[in-house]
Parts: sequence; structure tokens; C-alpha cells
Amino acid sequence: MADELRFDGRVVVVTGAGAGLGRAYALLFGSRGASVVVNDLGGGRHGDGSSTKVADTVVDEIRRAGGKAVANYDNVLDGDKIIQTALDAFGRIDIVINNAGILRDKSFQKMTETDWDLIHDVHLKGAMRVTKAAWPHLRKQGYGRIIMTSSNSGLYGNFGQPNYSAAKMGLVGLASTLALEGVKSNVLTNVIVPTAGSRLTEDIVPPDFFEQLKPEFIAPTVMWLCHEDCSENGSIIESAIGWTGKCRLYRSNGMMLRKNLNDMVTPEDVRNNWDAITSMSGAKAYDSIQEVTGEIMTTLENLKSASSSVSNKELVLHTN
Ligand code: NAI
Repeated sequence: MADELRFDGRVVVVTGAGAGLGRAYALLFGSRGASVVVNDLGGGRHGDGSSTKVADTVVDEIRRAGGKAVANYDNVLDGDKIIQTALDAFGRIDIVINNAGILRDKSFQKMTETDWDLIHDVHLKGAMRVTKAAWPHLRKQGYGRIIMTSSNSGLYGNFGQPNYSAAKMGLVGLASTLALEGVKSNVLTNVIVPTAGSRLTEDIVPPDFFEQLKPEFIAPTVMWLCHEDCSENGSIIESAIGWTGKCRLYRSNGMMLRKNLNDMVTPEDVRNNWDAITSMSGAKAYDSIQEVTGEIMTTLENLKSASSSVSNKELVLHTN
């Protein structure tokens, strides 16, 4: 196909590529000309143990299909070693897909600091370390694509996942800033929010639904986000069952509780206007922190001119 999306000459690192979503990404990239580093420490779903088998199996699958791949068995916390594998084997790094993940589900009441730390280490610190090791190479060559993997548990919360949802939302914050810091060097960062049938979800999803949740339905979206023709940056892209869409934060129009510059705000002002403050009718999405702070400045300017027109009126009344 003439307009097929190709990755010839590109090198991609996929973390946690021995199973589930990461495996689907690695196989698809391998089939489109990319050289793939298949990273996986081969542990259990709670972060226990390790084995070289899962990464080796995926490397074999890619090679048997005619693609190029090498295995890496490091923990994502050793991000520099994972990126070094790409440099040693293929001489460059172009695309980083931060996908490795584990679960330690507990309600907040039962969650221990170990549950918190293990999840943050793998999801948030691991993604930071792998990306940080690749970052100078991507910037220097003026091309790079980074994927962070978040979750609806992060965006909306999920009972029993306080540690996981915090780490997953942390990745959204990290991606938002990397998107700004990388754009001048054509290093673009986006977030994928998948819902897929995998060992992380096999016991919580009904079997017929599980069948429809193939990671292969999500991999093409991740692939497009990583292509040099794709200019999407700093976005949260949700994908499942062959459906893909974009998520954004929306803010209500809110309400100015001061009528002029000399007014203070009381807790009762807030209580009495709570419905208007929180009404989402006419809510807007913002593209940048500058847009948000700019709007605060405009609201302040409006307050200043309202205050001065009030005092001008007072002046007129007094002089009459
Ligand atoms: P999976 O358990 O099938 O695959 C994750 C892989 O990561 C495993 O092969 C595991 O060995 C590897 N891994 C775990 N810790 C690692 C570490 N420290 N270093 C290197 N490799 C490590 O899971 P699945 O479902 O494919 O999940 C992939 C990502 O997508 C995870 O980040 C997960 O949190 C996220 N996600 C998955 C959803 C789903 O519906 N399956 C929903 C939302 C997010």
C-alpha cells in the first residue's frame, strides 16, 4: 500500500512489551519496518519475580515475521539501560512507549506505603527514567515521539486503586509538560488511555466483553501518534474496542464573587452561589496555562473597570 504508515530506520522502545498491550504495539511496529526493543522483566502482575521468557517470545515472533527486534529484561527503573540497549543494537532511539505496569489494588484504608511506592516506581518513576534517558537523543536529532500510558482509573478514580489512579494521573501531568518542553525539537508526547483484555483485567471483565477488548484494536492509534506525520502533542487519547477519542479537562464559567476592588469574599458568598459556580453550562476547555491565567487577568481588568465606573457614578452623584 503506497500510503501505508512506515517506520523504516526508526527505533522504538516498548516497555512491558512481553504481554498484553505492549506486545501488540511491539508486533505492529515490527511489521512496519521499525527496529524494536522489547523490554519486559517478565514478573507477576503484582510486580513479583522476573523471567526473560516473555520478552524473548515476542522478539522471536517479530523476527519470524521478518522484523527487527532485540530483548531487554531490565526494570523500567533502570531506564538508562533500556535506552542503551536501543543505542547498542540499532544506533539510535526515536520512539518511547511507556507501557509497563503492575497492579496492587487495595482500598485506601488497607493500602500500605509499599503498595503506594511499588506502583509509583513502576508507572511514574519508571516512565520518567526511560524517557529521561532517551530525551537528549530525541532533542538532538530533532525528532521523537513519546507515549505515556494512563488509565480511566486515573482520570475518573476507581474504587480500590488509590495508588494506581494517582500514578496514572501523574503521567498525564508529566506528559503535559514534556509536550511543551519537547515541541521546539519536534519531540511530541501524548497519553494513551487504553481499555484492553489482558492479565491485568482478565478477572474483572466478563468473558464476552473481554473478547472484544483486543489490544490489537488500540495499537494502531498508538502507532499513528508515534508517526512523523502526526503533529498531535500533549493530548490524552482514549482507545478501546476499535473506538478512539480525545479527552480534555473542562472548566465551568464560574462566577466572580467580588463586585468591586474593595470587596472581600466570604464563605457565605461561596455557599450562596455554589450552583452558579459549579454549573457546567457553557464550560470551556483550555489549551494552555497562559490561556487560563490570561482569563484571570481579564476578569481582574473587568473588575477594575466595573469598580471605576461605580466610583465615577458615585462621584457624579456627589457633585450633583
Ligand atoms: P500486562 O500485565 O498484560 O502487561 C504489562 C507488562 O509489563 C507485563 O508483561 C509485565 O511483565 C511488564 N512489567 C511490569 N513491571 C515492569 C517493570 N518494572 N519493568 C519492565 N516491565 C514490567 O498489562 P496490560 O493490560 O497490557 O497493561 C499495559 C499498560 O496499560 C499498563 O501500564 C497498564 O496500567 C495500562 N492500562 C491497561 C488497561 C487495560 O485495560 N488493560 C487499562 C488502563 C491502563
